[in-house]
Amino acid sequence: MIVCQCTGVTDRAIRKAVRDGASNRNDVVRACTAGKTCGGCVPAIDEIIEAEQGRIMRSGLATLELATG
Ligand code: FES
Repeated sequence: MIVCQCTGVTDRAIRKAVRDGASNRNDVVRACTAGKTCGGCVPAIDEIIEAEQGRIMRSGLATLELATG
């Protein structure tokens, strides 16, 4: 799904940027240019960052639980 109408950046590209280490909006803007023009997509970018970080944390906790029993 295209999140940034100005640059055509998708939710998938934003999630990948987060998985690759972008930890905040500025990192995501640098990584994939979403949000760089009018800023109208910034609230959606923030939601995607938060959701992806939560998913990464849950995944890490699940791995930790498997490792520690
Ligand atoms: S919609 Fe993303 S910068 Fe304009």
